[in-house]
Amino acid sequence: MSINSVNKESWNLQAKRYFENSNFSFDNVDYGDVRCLTEKDLKLLGDVKGKRILELGCGGANCGIALAKQGATVFCTDISEKQIEIAKNNAQRENVDIKFIVSAMEDVNFIDEKFDIVISICAMMYVKDIRTVFSNISSMLNKNGIFVFSLNDPTFYSVASKYLWNEKKEQQSYFYTGEERWKWEDDDNFEFITYRRTIGDYVNKLSDCKMLVSKLHQLKIEHDVINDEEELLETEYPRIMVFKSVKI
Ligand SMILES: C[S@@+](CC[C@H](N)C(=O)[O-])C[C@H]1O[C@@H](n2cnc3c(N)ncnc32)[C@H](O)[C@@H]1O
Repeated sequence: MSINSVNKESWNLQAKRYFENSNFSFDNVDYGDVRCLTEKDLKLLGDVKGKRILELGCGGANCGIALAKQGATVFCTDISEKQIEIAKNNAQRENVDIKFIVSAMEDVNFIDEKFDIVISICAMMYVKDIRTVFSNISSMLNKNGIFVFSLNDPTFYSVASKYLWNEKKEQQSYFYTGEERWKWEDDDNFEFITYRRTIGDYVNKLSDCKMLVSKLHQLKIEHDVINDEEELLETEYPRIMVFKSVKI
């Protein structure tokens, strides 16, 4: 089975549980965890009123819905039909009009539209061929358009791999580039495949596709009480990173 088929099937199984366990806001853009700094703090997108925005890997579309409420015209895409089903229900309940498309982000260049902003929250790590995806995004962005995305920070994952999870030796290095297979819960009978790349890999591949990084935030997760070693590590190392790049 291809990587996208594995992740699509797994996200179809995970969608309902993910939505029920998340407490994302429909009024603000969270970059992957509500306990991190959000768009209200980082202000990467600016005033979105009247802007055309494409969201890739939208999940329940909490982000797209928040942006539509602020007056943007929003297109949301995801590889999982179940995620899009949940997203459509959310949009209806929140009373916003969004165009939804089921598609892998590797294939979105069939959308014959141009955008001012492309956004993606915690979805880029599911992509193997990041060059194709960045090239698609670049060709769909207007000049000076912005691409903002968040994803797993390799700093945290290499440290946790070495000191907490005792994973394969190669994965314990910050410089590991390649796939990681993992389960949401230990007893799940389905798995996800994500990719680790260094920060430099992302910056250089964006630049190859004419998108220059203007901001990079590495986010820690704030905990009121530290319950275990993983939570302690989340306060000491960045778990999520957020890039803003500009199409030249
Ligand atoms: C961790 S969830 C994030 C969802 C949402 N952005 C959020 O912040 O809640 C990752 C999402 O990426 C989607 N996804 C995974 N691989 C994808 C691909 N190749 N193309 C498009 N979407 C993909 C999954 O179906 C899932 O909805």
